[in-house]
Amino acid sequence: MNYHLACNKLFIFLTSIVATIAFVSTANGQSTVELDFEYFKNEVQPIFLAKRRNNVTCIQCHVRNRTFPMQALEEGKFFWTEEQSRLNFQYASAFTRPGEHPLKSRLLTHALSSSAGGDPFHGGGKHFLNQNDPEWRIMADWVAGAKTRRKARDTVVRIVQTSAAGDSSAIIDPVTNTVVAMIEDVSVPHGVTSAPDGSQIYLTNESLHTLDIIDSRTLRVKRRIHLSGRPNNVAVSKDGSKVYVAIMQEPGAVDVIDIEKMENVKSIMTVGPIHNVYVTPDGKYAVAGSIQKTTINVIDTVTDELAWTKEMDAGIRPMTFDTHPDGSTRNIFVQLSGHHGFVAIDFNSHEEVARIEHPAIADHEAHTDGLQGAPAHGIGVAPNGKTIWSTSKVYSHAYVYSLPDLKEIGHVYVGQHPEWVTFTPDSKTVYIGAAGENATYAVDVETLTVVAKIDVGQVPKRVGMVLMQVD
Ligand code: HEC
Repeated sequence: MNYHLACNKLFIFLTSIVATIAFVSTANGQSTVELDFEYFKNEVQPIFLAKRRNNVTCIQCHVRNRTFPMQALEEGKFFWTEEQSRLNFQYASAFTRPGEHPLKSRLLTHALSSSAGGDPFHGGGKHFLNQNDPEWRIMADWVAGAKTRRKARDTVVRIVQTSAAGDSSAIIDPVTNTVVAMIEDVSVPHGVTSAPDGSQIYLTNESLHTLDIIDSRTLRVKRRIHLSGRPNNVAVSKDGSKVYVAIMQEPGAVDVIDIEKMENVKSIMTVGPIHNVYVTPDGKYAVAGSIQKTTINVIDTVTDELAWTKEMDAGIRPMTFDTHPDGSTRNIFVQLSGHHGFVAIDFNSHEEVARIEHPAIADHEAHTDGLQGAPAHGIGVAPNGKTIWSTSKVYSHAYVYSLPDLKEIGHVYVGQHPEWVTFTPDSKTVYIGAAGENATYAVDVETLTVVAKIDVGQVPKRVGMVLMQVD
Protein backbone atom coordinates (compact mmCIF):
# COMPACT_ATOMS: atom_id res chain seq x y z
CA MET A 1 0.00 0.00 0.00
CA ASN A 2 1.49 3.33 -0.95
CA TYR A 3 1.62 6.31 1.33
CA HIS A 4 -1.21 8.16 -0.34
CA LEU A 5 -3.57 5.23 -0.18
CA ALA A 6 -2.66 4.65 3.45
CA CYS A 7 -3.53 8.28 4.21
CA ASN A 8 -6.82 7.91 2.39
CA LYS A 9 -7.72 4.79 4.34
CA LEU A 10 -6.80 6.46 7.63
CA PHE A 11 -8.84 9.50 6.71
CA ILE A 12 -11.88 7.40 5.89
CA PHE A 13 -11.47 5.60 9.18
CA LEU A 14 -11.32 8.89 11.08
CA THR A 15 -14.22 10.46 9.20
CA SER A 16 -16.34 7.38 9.74
CA ILE A 17 -15.75 7.81 13.49
CA VAL A 18 -16.74 11.48 13.20
CA ALA A 19 -19.79 10.51 11.15
CA THR A 20 -20.77 7.93 13.74
CA ILE A 21 -20.48 10.50 16.54
CA ALA A 22 -22.60 12.97 14.56
CA PHE A 23 -25.04 10.20 13.88
CA VAL A 24 -25.38 9.27 17.52
CA SER A 25 -25.93 12.87 18.58
CA THR A 26 -28.64 13.43 16.00
CA ALA A 27 -30.10 10.02 16.66
CA ASN A 28 -30.97 11.24 20.11
CA GLY A 29 -34.69 10.88 19.80
CA GLN A 30 -34.66 12.48 16.33
CA SER A 31 -34.93 10.98 12.85
CA THR A 32 -31.77 9.42 11.52
CA VAL A 33 -30.91 10.29 7.94
CA GLU A 34 -28.61 8.20 5.81
CA LEU A 35 -26.69 9.64 2.89
CA ASP A 36 -27.41 7.80 -0.36
CA PHE A 37 -24.37 6.70 -2.36
CA GLU A 38 -26.02 6.29 -5.79
CA TYR A 39 -27.57 9.75 -5.58
CA PHE A 40 -24.20 11.19 -4.58
CA LYS A 41 -22.44 9.39 -7.41
CA ASN A 42 -24.83 10.34 -10.20
CA GLU A 43 -26.27 13.68 -9.11
CA VAL A 44 -23.84 15.35 -6.67
CA GLN A 45 -20.49 14.36 -8.18
CA PRO A 46 -21.17 15.99 -11.58
CA ILE A 47 -21.38 19.32 -9.69
CA PHE A 48 -17.74 18.89 -8.67
CA LEU A 49 -16.73 18.53 -12.34
CA ALA A 50 -19.02 21.16 -13.87
CA LYS A 51 -17.73 24.43 -15.23
CA ARG A 52 -19.68 27.39 -13.88
CA ARG A 53 -19.31 30.75 -15.55
CA ASN A 54 -16.11 32.52 -14.34
CA ASN A 55 -15.51 29.87 -11.68
CA VAL A 56 -12.85 27.20 -11.58
CA THR A 57 -14.30 23.66 -11.25
CA CYS A 58 -14.36 22.22 -7.71
CA ILE A 59 -12.09 19.32 -8.68
CA GLN A 60 -9.45 21.66 -10.06
CA CYS A 61 -8.50 22.75 -6.53
CA HIS A 62 -9.90 20.00 -4.36
CA VAL A 63 -7.79 17.31 -5.98
CA ARG A 64 -4.97 18.94 -3.99
CA ASN A 65 -6.97 19.97 -0.93
CA ARG A 66 -5.94 18.16 2.27
CA THR A 67 -9.08 18.27 4.34
CA PHE A 68 -11.55 17.87 1.47
CA PRO A 69 -9.69 15.96 -1.24
CA MET A 70 -11.43 14.83 -4.43
CA GLN A 71 -10.00 11.91 -6.39
CA ALA A 72 -8.01 12.75 -9.52
CA LEU A 73 -9.65 11.52 -12.72
CA GLU A 74 -7.72 8.77 -14.46
CA GLU A 75 -5.87 9.74 -17.62
CA GLY A 76 -8.33 10.41 -20.45
CA LYS A 77 -11.38 9.78 -18.24
CA PHE A 78 -14.28 12.18 -17.71
CA PHE A 79 -15.74 10.53 -14.62
CA TRP A 80 -14.63 8.67 -11.53
CA THR A 81 -14.48 4.90 -11.12
CA GLU A 82 -16.80 3.23 -8.62
CA GLU A 83 -13.97 2.99 -6.08
CA GLN A 84 -13.03 6.64 -6.50
CA SER A 85 -16.69 7.63 -6.13
CA ARG A 86 -16.78 5.74 -2.81
CA LEU A 87 -13.79 7.76 -1.59
CA ASN A 88 -15.35 11.04 -2.74
CA PHE A 89 -18.52 10.01 -0.93
CA GLN A 90 -16.62 9.47 2.32
CA TYR A 91 -14.81 12.81 2.14
CA ALA A 92 -17.85 14.84 1.12
CA SER A 93 -19.97 13.16 3.81
CA ALA A 94 -17.58 14.47 6.45
CA PHE A 95 -18.72 18.02 5.64
CA THR A 96 -22.40 17.31 6.07
CA ARG A 97 -24.80 17.01 9.02
CA PRO A 98 -27.43 14.74 7.49
CA GLY A 99 -30.99 15.65 8.19
CA GLU A 100 -30.15 18.88 9.98
CA HIS A 101 -30.80 22.41 8.74
CA PRO A 102 -28.88 22.76 5.42
CA LEU A 103 -26.88 25.74 6.67
CA LYS A 104 -25.32 23.47 9.30
CA SER A 105 -23.44 21.55 6.58
CA ARG A 106 -20.13 23.02 5.47
CA LEU A 107 -20.53 21.36 2.06
CA LEU A 108 -23.61 23.54 1.57
CA THR A 109 -22.36 26.79 3.11
CA HIS A 110 -18.80 27.05 1.84
CA ALA A 111 -19.48 27.73 -1.84
CA LEU A 112 -22.82 29.50 -1.18
CA SER A 113 -22.92 33.32 -1.28
CA SER A 114 -22.66 34.76 2.20
CA SER A 115 -25.66 36.98 1.46
CA ALA A 116 -27.66 33.78 0.90
CA GLY A 117 -26.62 32.27 4.22
CA GLY A 118 -23.23 30.91 3.17
CA ASP A 119 -19.91 31.19 5.03
CA PRO A 120 -18.09 34.54 4.88
CA PHE A 121 -15.17 33.08 2.90
CA HIS A 122 -14.25 30.12 0.67
CA GLY A 123 -10.82 29.95 -0.95
CA GLY A 124 -12.58 28.55 -4.01
CA GLY A 125 -15.02 31.41 -4.35
CA LYS A 126 -18.79 31.47 -4.42
CA HIS A 127 -20.43 29.10 -6.89
CA PHE A 128 -24.06 29.35 -5.83
CA LEU A 129 -25.74 32.74 -5.55
CA ASN A 130 -28.78 31.59 -3.64
CA GLN A 131 -30.51 28.57 -2.18
CA ASN A 132 -32.68 28.21 -5.28
CA ASP A 133 -29.66 27.38 -7.39
CA PRO A 134 -30.53 23.99 -8.94
CA GLU A 135 -27.07 22.54 -8.24
CA TRP A 136 -27.11 23.75 -4.65
CA ARG A 137 -30.52 22.15 -4.22
CA ILE A 138 -29.24 18.82 -5.54
CA MET A 139 -26.57 18.86 -2.82
CA ALA A 140 -29.01 20.05 -0.14
CA ASP A 141 -31.45 17.26 -1.06
CA TRP A 142 -28.63 14.73 -0.76
CA VAL A 143 -27.78 15.97 2.73
CA ALA A 144 -31.48 15.76 3.58
CA GLY A 145 -31.43 12.06 2.63
CA ALA A 146 -32.75 12.11 -0.96
CA LYS A 147 -32.38 8.92 -2.99
CA THR A 148 -33.73 10.35 -6.25
CA ARG A 149 -34.13 13.76 -7.80
CA ARG A 150 -37.05 15.83 -6.61
CA LYS A 151 -39.91 16.15 -9.08
CA ALA A 152 -39.53 18.91 -11.65
CA ARG A 153 -42.01 21.77 -11.55
CA ASP A 154 -42.79 21.49 -15.25
CA THR A 155 -41.69 20.16 -18.63
CA VAL A 156 -41.45 22.70 -21.46
CA VAL A 157 -40.75 22.76 -25.19
CA ARG A 158 -37.57 24.53 -26.22
CA ILE A 159 -35.56 24.96 -29.40
CA VAL A 160 -31.80 24.43 -29.08
CA GLN A 161 -29.65 26.14 -31.70
CA THR A 162 -26.07 24.90 -31.72
CA SER A 163 -23.29 26.93 -33.27
CA ALA A 164 -20.90 25.14 -35.62
CA ALA A 165 -18.17 27.68 -34.82
CA GLY A 166 -18.82 28.21 -31.14
CA ASP A 167 -18.74 26.63 -27.73
CA SER A 168 -22.25 27.41 -26.62
CA SER A 169 -25.78 26.52 -27.66
CA ALA A 170 -28.73 28.89 -27.41
CA ILE A 171 -31.99 27.76 -25.82
CA ILE A 172 -34.98 29.48 -27.43
CA ASP A 173 -38.43 29.72 -25.87
CA PRO A 174 -40.85 29.20 -28.78
CA VAL A 175 -43.55 31.22 -27.01
CA THR A 176 -41.53 34.45 -26.74
CA ASN A 177 -39.00 33.63 -29.50
CA THR A 178 -36.15 34.84 -27.31
CA VAL A 179 -32.97 33.15 -26.09
CA VAL A 180 -33.74 32.25 -22.48
CA ALA A 181 -30.54 30.39 -21.55
CA MET A 182 -27.27 29.05 -22.93
CA ILE A 183 -25.61 25.65 -22.65
CA GLU A 184 -21.94 26.36 -22.16
CA ASP A 185 -18.81 24.25 -21.94
CA VAL A 186 -19.56 22.06 -24.98
CA SER A 187 -17.00 23.07 -27.57
CA VAL A 188 -17.94 22.53 -31.23
CA PRO A 189 -21.34 21.04 -30.47
CA HIS A 190 -22.79 19.12 -33.42
CA GLY A 191 -26.23 17.57 -33.01
CA VAL A 192 -28.80 18.01 -30.28
CA THR A 193 -31.76 16.04 -28.97
CA SER A 194 -33.32 15.33 -25.60
CA ALA A 195 -34.59 12.53 -23.40
CA PRO A 196 -38.32 11.98 -24.07
CA ASP A 197 -39.06 12.83 -20.41
CA GLY A 198 -37.13 16.11 -20.70
CA SER A 199 -34.68 15.23 -17.93
CA GLN A 200 -31.57 15.68 -20.06
CA ILE A 201 -30.30 17.11 -23.31
CA TYR A 202 -27.83 15.25 -25.51
CA LEU A 203 -25.17 17.15 -27.47
CA THR A 204 -22.42 15.58 -29.54
CA ASN A 205 -19.05 17.17 -28.82
CA GLU A 206 -16.73 17.29 -31.83
CA SER A 207 -13.84 18.64 -29.82
CA LEU A 208 -13.62 15.90 -27.16
CA HIS A 209 -15.30 13.12 -29.21
CA THR A 210 -17.94 12.62 -26.54
CA LEU A 211 -21.68 12.53 -26.11
CA ASP A 212 -22.32 15.27 -23.57
CA ILE A 213 -25.31 14.71 -21.32
CA ILE A 214 -26.69 18.01 -20.04
CA ASP A 215 -28.90 18.11 -16.97
CA SER A 216 -31.97 20.06 -18.15
CA ARG A 217 -32.51 21.66 -14.76
CA THR A 218 -28.94 22.83 -14.11
CA LEU A 219 -27.86 23.21 -17.76
CA ARG A 220 -24.49 21.80 -16.74
CA VAL A 221 -22.67 18.85 -18.29
CA LYS A 222 -23.66 15.84 -16.20
CA ARG A 223 -21.60 13.21 -18.02
CA ARG A 224 -19.38 12.99 -21.04
CA ILE A 225 -19.42 9.56 -22.71
CA HIS A 226 -16.43 8.52 -24.84
CA LEU A 227 -17.27 7.79 -28.47
CA SER A 228 -15.44 5.55 -30.93
CA GLY A 229 -14.47 8.58 -33.05
CA ARG A 230 -15.43 12.12 -34.02
CA PRO A 231 -19.21 12.43 -33.89
CA ASN A 232 -21.72 14.19 -36.09
CA ASN A 233 -25.43 13.95 -35.41
CA VAL A 234 -27.37 12.20 -32.69
CA ALA A 235 -30.82 10.63 -32.14
CA VAL A 236 -32.64 9.11 -29.20
CA SER A 237 -34.67 5.89 -29.11
CA LYS A 238 -38.41 6.31 -28.64
CA ASP A 239 -38.38 4.99 -25.06
CA GLY A 240 -35.32 7.10 -24.21
CA SER A 241 -33.19 4.13 -23.14
CA LYS A 242 -30.61 4.49 -25.93
CA VAL A 243 -28.89 7.29 -27.79
CA TYR A 244 -27.51 6.70 -31.29
CA VAL A 245 -24.47 8.74 -32.32
CA ALA A 246 -23.21 9.12 -35.89
CA ILE A 247 -19.45 8.55 -36.03
CA MET A 248 -17.96 10.56 -38.87
CA GLN A 249 -14.42 9.30 -38.39
CA GLU A 250 -13.20 6.43 -40.65
CA PRO A 251 -14.24 3.64 -40.89
CA GLY A 252 -17.55 4.94 -39.50
CA ALA A 253 -20.12 3.55 -37.09
CA VAL A 254 -23.21 4.30 -35.12
CA ASP A 255 -22.38 4.21 -31.41
CA VAL A 256 -25.10 3.08 -29.01
CA ILE A 257 -25.16 4.73 -25.59
CA ASP A 258 -27.05 2.96 -22.83
CA ILE A 259 -28.60 5.81 -20.85
CA GLU A 260 -29.23 3.93 -17.64
CA LYS A 261 -25.65 2.65 -17.49
CA MET A 262 -24.31 5.88 -19.00
CA GLU A 263 -22.00 3.76 -21.14
CA ASN A 264 -21.11 3.36 -24.79
CA VAL A 265 -22.26 -0.25 -25.20
CA LYS A 266 -21.88 -0.89 -28.93
CA SER A 267 -20.42 0.46 -32.16
CA ILE A 268 -22.57 -0.74 -35.05
CA MET A 269 -20.44 -1.14 -38.18
CA THR A 270 -21.86 0.85 -41.07
CA VAL A 271 -21.01 1.15 -44.75
CA GLY A 272 -18.93 4.30 -44.48
CA PRO A 273 -18.51 7.16 -41.99
CA ILE A 274 -21.85 8.49 -40.75
CA HIS A 275 -22.98 12.10 -41.01
CA ASN A 276 -26.52 11.95 -39.65
CA VAL A 277 -28.54 9.41 -37.72
CA TYR A 278 -32.30 9.51 -37.07
CA VAL A 279 -34.80 7.29 -35.32
CA THR A 280 -37.92 6.71 -37.45
CA PRO A 281 -41.19 8.12 -36.01
CA ASP A 282 -42.37 4.60 -35.03
CA GLY A 283 -39.10 4.02 -33.17
CA LYS A 284 -38.36 0.78 -35.04
CA TYR A 285 -35.29 1.85 -37.00
CA ALA A 286 -32.26 4.11 -36.76
CA VAL A 287 -31.40 5.48 -40.19
CA ALA A 288 -27.82 6.63 -40.79
CA GLY A 289 -26.33 8.28 -43.88
CA SER A 290 -22.79 8.27 -45.23
CA ILE A 291 -21.49 11.12 -47.37
CA GLN A 292 -18.29 9.32 -48.42
CA LYS A 293 -19.84 5.92 -49.23
CA THR A 294 -23.20 7.37 -50.46
CA THR A 295 -25.14 4.78 -48.43
CA ILE A 296 -28.26 4.82 -46.32
CA ASN A 297 -27.81 2.37 -43.42
CA VAL A 298 -31.00 1.18 -41.74
CA ILE A 299 -30.54 -0.29 -38.25
CA ASP A 300 -33.12 -2.41 -36.40
CA THR A 301 -33.45 -0.77 -32.95
CA VAL A 302 -34.39 -4.07 -31.27
CA THR A 303 -31.23 -5.94 -32.29
CA ASP A 304 -29.06 -2.89 -33.04
CA GLU A 305 -27.88 -4.65 -36.22
CA LEU A 306 -27.99 -3.43 -39.81
CA ALA A 307 -31.33 -4.38 -41.39
CA TRP A 308 -30.65 -3.08 -44.90
CA THR A 309 -28.55 -0.58 -46.81
CA LYS A 310 -29.13 1.40 -49.98
CA GLU A 311 -26.49 2.95 -52.15
CA MET A 312 -27.33 6.28 -53.77
CA ASP A 313 -25.62 8.25 -56.56
CA ALA A 314 -24.26 10.94 -54.21
CA GLY A 315 -23.41 11.56 -50.55
CA ILE A 316 -26.22 11.29 -47.99
CA ARG A 317 -26.99 14.60 -46.30
CA PRO A 318 -29.93 15.39 -43.97
CA MET A 319 -32.94 13.08 -44.03
CA THR A 320 -36.52 13.09 -42.75
CA PHE A 321 -39.52 10.72 -42.85
CA ASP A 322 -43.24 10.62 -43.40
CA THR A 323 -45.53 7.88 -42.17
CA HIS A 324 -48.41 5.62 -43.20
CA PRO A 325 -51.69 6.03 -41.28
CA ASP A 326 -50.57 3.20 -38.94
CA GLY A 327 -47.44 5.18 -38.00
CA SER A 328 -44.97 3.01 -39.90
CA THR A 329 -42.42 4.74 -42.11
CA ARG A 330 -43.59 5.58 -45.65
CA ASN A 331 -40.66 7.42 -47.25
CA ILE A 332 -37.16 8.48 -46.39
CA PHE A 333 -36.65 11.96 -47.85
CA VAL A 334 -32.96 12.55 -48.40
CA GLN A 335 -30.84 15.48 -49.53
CA LEU A 336 -27.79 14.49 -51.57
CA SER A 337 -24.38 16.05 -52.13
CA GLY A 338 -24.48 18.43 -55.07
CA HIS A 339 -28.26 18.13 -55.52
CA HIS A 340 -30.43 21.24 -55.11
CA GLY A 341 -33.50 19.47 -53.78
CA PHE A 342 -34.29 16.07 -52.29
CA VAL A 343 -35.17 12.49 -53.18
CA ALA A 344 -37.92 10.20 -51.81
CA ILE A 345 -37.10 6.54 -51.09
CA ASP A 346 -40.00 4.18 -50.39
CA PHE A 347 -39.21 2.55 -47.04
CA ASN A 348 -40.71 -0.83 -47.92
CA SER A 349 -39.45 -1.30 -51.49
CA HIS A 350 -36.19 0.68 -50.96
CA GLU A 351 -36.82 2.22 -54.40
CA GLU A 352 -36.47 5.87 -55.36
CA VAL A 353 -40.02 7.16 -55.98
CA ALA A 354 -39.52 10.90 -56.49
CA ARG A 355 -36.76 13.41 -57.15
CA ILE A 356 -37.51 17.07 -56.42
CA GLU A 357 -35.37 19.92 -57.77
CA HIS A 358 -35.85 23.33 -56.15
CA PRO A 359 -36.58 25.94 -58.85
CA ALA A 360 -34.64 29.19 -59.14
CA ILE A 361 -36.28 32.16 -57.49
CA ALA A 362 -36.96 35.10 -59.79
CA ASP A 363 -34.99 38.28 -59.04
CA HIS A 364 -32.95 36.42 -56.45
CA GLU A 365 -29.22 36.06 -57.01
CA ALA A 366 -27.85 32.51 -56.67
CA HIS A 367 -25.05 31.97 -54.13
CA THR A 368 -22.42 29.37 -54.85
CA ASP A 369 -19.86 30.35 -52.21
CA GLY A 370 -19.34 28.16 -49.12
CA LEU A 371 -21.90 25.52 -50.04
CA GLN A 372 -19.64 22.78 -48.62
CA GLY A 373 -20.87 20.33 -51.25
CA ALA A 374 -24.48 20.60 -50.15
CA PRO A 375 -26.66 23.22 -51.85
CA ALA A 376 -29.65 21.93 -49.88
CA HIS A 377 -28.77 20.97 -46.30
CA GLY A 378 -31.80 21.04 -44.04
CA ILE A 379 -35.05 19.11 -44.34
CA GLY A 380 -37.99 18.22 -42.13
CA VAL A 381 -41.54 16.89 -42.17
CA ALA A 382 -43.89 18.83 -39.88
CA PRO A 383 -45.10 16.66 -36.96
CA ASN A 384 -48.68 16.77 -38.33
CA GLY A 385 -47.35 15.14 -41.52
CA LYS A 386 -48.88 17.76 -43.84
CA THR A 387 -45.81 19.55 -45.21
CA ILE A 388 -42.13 18.97 -45.94
CA TRP A 389 -39.63 21.83 -45.70
CA SER A 390 -36.25 21.88 -47.47
CA THR A 391 -33.73 24.72 -47.28
CA SER A 392 -31.56 26.08 -50.10
CA LYS A 393 -28.22 27.74 -49.45
CA VAL A 394 -28.19 28.80 -53.09
CA TYR A 395 -31.40 30.88 -52.91
CA SER A 396 -31.55 31.53 -49.11
CA HIS A 397 -35.09 30.19 -49.02
CA ALA A 398 -37.03 27.30 -47.53
CA TYR A 399 -39.15 25.44 -50.10
CA VAL A 400 -42.40 23.96 -48.84
CA TYR A 401 -44.27 20.98 -50.37
CA SER A 402 -47.52 19.30 -49.42
CA LEU A 403 -47.62 15.67 -48.30
CA PRO A 404 -48.17 13.04 -49.45
CA ASP A 405 -48.40 14.45 -53.00
CA LEU A 406 -45.20 16.60 -52.98
CA LYS A 407 -46.83 19.63 -54.66
CA GLU A 408 -44.91 22.88 -54.17
CA ILE A 409 -46.85 25.18 -51.83
CA GLY A 410 -44.43 28.09 -51.81
CA HIS A 411 -41.12 29.37 -50.50
CA VAL A 412 -39.97 31.82 -47.86
CA TYR A 413 -36.75 33.79 -47.37
CA VAL A 414 -34.93 32.45 -44.31
CA GLY A 415 -31.55 34.24 -44.36
CA GLN A 416 -28.11 33.55 -45.80
CA HIS A 417 -26.94 29.93 -45.79
CA PRO A 418 -30.04 28.41 -44.18
CA GLU A 419 -29.41 24.96 -42.73
CA TRP A 420 -31.30 22.62 -40.43
CA VAL A 421 -34.97 22.83 -39.62
CA THR A 422 -37.00 21.77 -36.59
CA PHE A 423 -40.67 22.18 -35.65
CA THR A 424 -42.64 22.81 -32.50
CA PRO A 425 -44.66 19.66 -31.64
CA ASP A 426 -47.93 21.45 -32.55
CA SER A 427 -46.55 22.06 -36.11
CA LYS A 428 -47.23 25.79 -35.75
CA THR A 429 -43.68 27.13 -36.06
CA VAL A 430 -40.56 25.95 -37.86
CA TYR A 431 -37.09 27.08 -36.75
CA ILE A 432 -34.26 27.35 -39.26
CA GLY A 433 -30.59 28.04 -38.54
CA ALA A 434 -29.29 30.78 -40.85
CA ALA A 435 -25.56 30.02 -40.70
CA GLY A 436 -24.61 33.15 -42.64
CA GLU A 437 -26.54 35.52 -40.39
CA ASN A 438 -25.81 34.15 -36.90
CA ALA A 439 -29.55 33.98 -36.44
CA THR A 440 -32.37 31.49 -36.16
CA TYR A 441 -35.49 32.22 -38.20
CA ALA A 442 -38.90 31.36 -36.78
CA VAL A 443 -41.47 30.85 -39.53
CA ASP A 444 -45.23 30.34 -39.26
CA VAL A 445 -45.91 26.97 -40.91
CA GLU A 446 -49.42 27.81 -42.08
CA THR A 447 -48.78 31.25 -43.64
CA LEU A 448 -45.07 30.86 -44.59
CA THR A 449 -44.22 34.16 -42.92
CA VAL A 450 -41.21 34.92 -40.76
CA VAL A 451 -42.39 35.67 -37.21
CA ALA A 452 -38.98 36.25 -35.61
CA LYS A 453 -35.28 36.49 -36.38
CA ILE A 454 -33.41 35.52 -33.23
CA ASP A 455 -29.74 36.41 -32.69
CA VAL A 456 -27.70 33.36 -31.68
CA GLY A 457 -24.03 32.26 -31.73
CA GLN A 458 -21.48 31.89 -34.53
CA VAL A 459 -22.51 29.86 -37.61
CA PRO A 460 -25.76 28.29 -36.39
CA LYS A 461 -26.44 25.09 -38.33
CA ARG A 462 -28.00 22.19 -36.41
CA VAL A 463 -31.18 23.09 -34.57
CA GLY A 464 -33.40 20.76 -32.58
CA MET A 465 -36.67 20.75 -30.67
CA VAL A 466 -36.18 19.46 -27.14
CA LEU A 467 -38.29 18.83 -24.08
CA MET A 468 -36.84 20.26 -20.88
CA GLN A 469 -37.75 19.70 -17.26
CA VAL A 470 -37.56 22.93 -15.29
CA ASP A 471 -37.50 23.61 -11.54
C1 HEC B 1 -10.01 27.86 -6.59
C2 HEC B 1 -9.90 26.67 -5.77
C3 HEC B 1 -11.17 26.08 -5.20
C4 HEC B 1 -12.33 25.76 -5.85
C5 HEC B 1 -12.66 25.97 -7.30
C6 HEC B 1 -13.23 25.19 -4.88
N1 HEC B 1 -12.63 25.18 -3.65
FE1 HEC B 1 -13.46 24.54 -1.93
N2 HEC B 1 -11.81 25.12 -0.92
C7 HEC B 1 -10.68 25.68 -1.47
C8 HEC B 1 -9.75 26.02 -0.41
C9 HEC B 1 -8.39 26.68 -0.60
C10 HEC B 1 -10.34 25.61 0.80
C11 HEC B 1 -9.75 25.74 2.20
C12 HEC B 1 -9.88 27.16 2.67
C13 HEC B 1 -11.28 27.52 2.94
O1 HEC B 1 -11.91 26.89 3.80
O2 HEC B 1 -11.81 28.37 2.22
C14 HEC B 1 -11.63 25.07 0.43
C15 HEC B 1 -12.53 24.55 1.34
C16 HEC B 1 -13.71 23.95 1.02
C17 HEC B 1 -14.58 23.32 1.98
C18 HEC B 1 -14.36 23.24 3.46
C19 HEC B 1 -13.35 22.19 3.79
C20 HEC B 1 -12.88 22.30 5.24
O3 HEC B 1 -11.75 21.95 5.49
O4 HEC B 1 -13.66 22.72 6.09
C21 HEC B 1 -15.65 22.84 1.29
C22 HEC B 1 -16.83 22.08 1.85
C23 HEC B 1 -15.44 23.17 -0.08
N3 HEC B 1 -14.26 23.85 -0.20
C24 HEC B 1 -16.32 22.83 -1.10
C25 HEC B 1 -16.15 23.21 -2.42
C26 HEC B 1 -17.09 22.94 -3.47
C27 HEC B 1 -18.38 22.16 -3.30
C28 HEC B 1 -16.58 23.49 -4.61
C29 HEC B 1 -17.23 23.58 -5.97
C30 HEC B 1 -18.63 23.98 -6.01
C31 HEC B 1 -15.32 24.09 -4.27
N4 HEC B 1 -15.08 23.91 -2.94
C32 HEC B 1 -14.51 24.73 -5.17
C33 HEC B 1 -10.45 25.89 -2.80
C34 HEC B 1 -11.36 25.71 -3.81
